[in-house]
Amino acid sequence: GLLEQMTLPLYFGWFLLSSIQDKIECTAMDFLKTLDTLEAFKKHSSDFTGKPEKEVDLEQYFEAKGVLHCTTKFCDYGNAEGAKDYAQKTAVKEFYGSVFELSLSALFVTPRTVGARVSLTEEQLVLWPADAESVVPAAASLPLGSRAHVTLGCANGVEPVQTGLDLLEILLLQQEGQQGELVEEMELGSLTYYGEGRWLLNLREPICVPACFSSFFG
Ligand code: A2P
Repeated sequence: GLLEQMTLPLYFGWFLLSSIQDKIECTAMDFLKTLDTLEAFKKHSSDFTGKPEKEVDLEQYFEAKGVLHCTTKFCDYGNAEGAKDYAQKTAVKEFYGSVFELSLSALFVTPRTVGARVSLTEEQLVLWPADAESVVPAAASLPLGSRAHVTLGCANGVEPVQTGLDLLEILLLQQEGQQGELVEEMELGSLTYYGEGRWLLNLREPICVPACFSSFFG
């Protein structure tokens, strides 16, 4: 009936508690502000502008995309493959409404998105769908949970789904043995450039954030 059709959300995920959202947004803004003033970044700013020598203001470049969260399963109200199975998983029902501590282990920036990598614990991985990585065939070899992230902003015209794909791309480069170019030791951690506008800041101290496992209907 109608009720059944309406029970699947747009997506399930961990929602950062509102008290911590501002703090993470500030951390991200500070990072962007610092990044685009680095000489090493300016050298590659054409990755973002398409024009040599033209500077980019990263704070303006990205726009926020609503409530900060780490998507587990995108359900598209039941239209996405595996949505119903996911919603019926024991762990999903059991932990619905529970608060977890998410560990943000890195920040990354590409010409398309800015995000935070989330390092999931074994307990958190029970809520992670088995096919989240393998929808990108090349990424099937990466460990489960590799795609886990919080979208912090997207460039004009870019959809947030891109953030996880950008993260997978960087992790695949690492897996292939591309070390990237260690650019700078920053206060927050070490900054690496992977070419084509891809920057990763591995946090010295992961940022722990409380987040509620729930769903978003839109
Ligand atoms: P993300 O998890 O990277 O932020 P939208 O507003 O475009 O419908 O997306 C709603 C949320 O679902 C966003 O958080 C988005 O990306 C995520 N999302 C959208 N499409 C997909 C998809 N095909 N696979 C996984 N996550 C998706």
